[in-house]
Amino acid sequence: MASATYRFSGPVEVPRVETRHRRIVTKIPVPESLEIFETLDRYESSAMHGQLPVVWDRAEGFQVHDPWGNTWIDFTSSIFVTNAGHGNPRIVEALREVLDRPLLHAYTYATRVRADYLRYLIASTPPQFEKAFLLSAGTEATECALKLMRTNGWKQGKRRPGILAFEGNWHGRTMGSQMISHNPEQKAWIGYQDPHIFHLPFPYPWREDAVRDPRAFFRTHMSELLQKEGLDPEKDLCGVMLETFQGWGALFYPPEFVQEAAAFARARGMLVAFDEMQAGFGRTGKLFGYMHYGVEPDLLCCGKGASSSLPLSIVLGSQRVMDLPEVGSMSSTHSANPASCAAGLANLRALIEEGMIENARVLGEVFHARLNEIRGRFPGHIRHVLGRGLVAGVHFADPNGKVDSVLASRVCEKALRKGLLLVHTGRESIKMGPPLVITEEGLMEGLEVFEESVAEGISEAGR
Ligand SMILES: Cc1ncc(COP(=O)(O)O)c(C=O)c1O
Repeated sequence: MASATYRFSGPVEVPRVETRHRRIVTKIPVPESLEIFETLDRYESSAMHGQLPVVWDRAEGFQVHDPWGNTWIDFTSSIFVTNAGHGNPRIVEALREVLDRPLLHAYTYATRVRADYLRYLIASTPPQFEKAFLLSAGTEATECALKLMRTNGWKQGKRRPGILAFEGNWHGRTMGSQMISHNPEQKAWIGYQDPHIFHLPFPYPWREDAVRDPRAFFRTHMSELLQKEGLDPEKDLCGVMLETFQGWGALFYPPEFVQEAAAFARARGMLVAFDEMQAGFGRTGKLFGYMHYGVEPDLLCCGKGASSSLPLSIVLGSQRVMDLPEVGSMSSTHSANPASCAAGLANLRALIEEGMIENARVLGEVFHARLNEIRGRFPGHIRHVLGRGLVAGVHFADPNGKVDSVLASRVCEKALRKGLLLVHTGRESIKMGPPLVITEEGLMEGLEVFEESVAEGISEAGR
């Protein structure tokens, strides 16, 4: 089984593990599971592959079970989706009601559950968010924000549909989202660049000039861009899109940088949009991740943790902006599916009423303190521990400072064999994002396994 850069080993004997939260009682990967991987390899585009070789059969709370008696502590939340916990009982109950009615699909005809969800969503979010647009995938939400920013710009009489975005940020795989994303290789297939989308340098923590003066860093690069492209921002720029933190490595911006960018945009009639796909719905210890920056956006793109389960993405904004497109011009077949709305409502209620966001904040402190302790133990191999709340990016490098994606992959594989699921990025980072219902004991057990896996990964590399 191959990822983009690393080949996971075939079934190997591993020590038996039986703890309160983990159970590993077979070879890993499980020999009986190979047939499933072979079937997927045979019938599905390989572009879907590259994940750790584990078959998910059941998942509850912060644990994932396979069909052969193995149980993992989950530090992935199935890629930052199951914030309210796998198989959250409130969500299961809400879905059961939809199934029992039954009402599995209703296109954009009115449903009670959609009205209930929207009322609760708008009441639970900051006041500038007066309306929402419900979709299925995150990439649709960022595309939608792009459309709204440009439509708003045209309405204001701008002469170009310019959008600012940032180096290294990522917003999805459909064409508009890829255009706003930075990754040049991923969008090479398009064959041209949208001439009105501009990427500014990201204030990486390893950029000394960005750390020293984040405001000056923004202003300098902004004025260089305006000069180079001959832009008048009042007339040529409609909006700015920020990924709340850079996903692959949990890289946040210095707040002053975001404040400067938002102030620049506001003064020039541009809309400020955040892509909260990974950051939203409590992940960082606040309802939305942008709340760490001391700014309020005009548009918010959400997905993943919005439902902790079924496909659901959301764009939030003011009534004026959300009503700009013509009636009927912004819907999709699966927008506002009744089951997704029921899941979204039960999810948000659970996150708010059961204190899960607060749990992410409180446990986030312990989580990062312990991760930094682990970093201190391996200074020649772990360069950064980034993130906040219950999201972390651990960045690996070799003792010469060269990024080390092989060690990151090897650590993920070691952890898998011990009963811990980590987010394998294929790059030099490992991402961690347990469901927000995780207990301190479960979290600490997972980090213990991570530490052992790093130690073994390093010693194996030295052999
Ligand atoms: C920041 C960000 N934006 C957009 C997306 C796209 O979401 P989806 O895969 O649901 O289309 C993702 C998905 O990983 C993401 O992390």
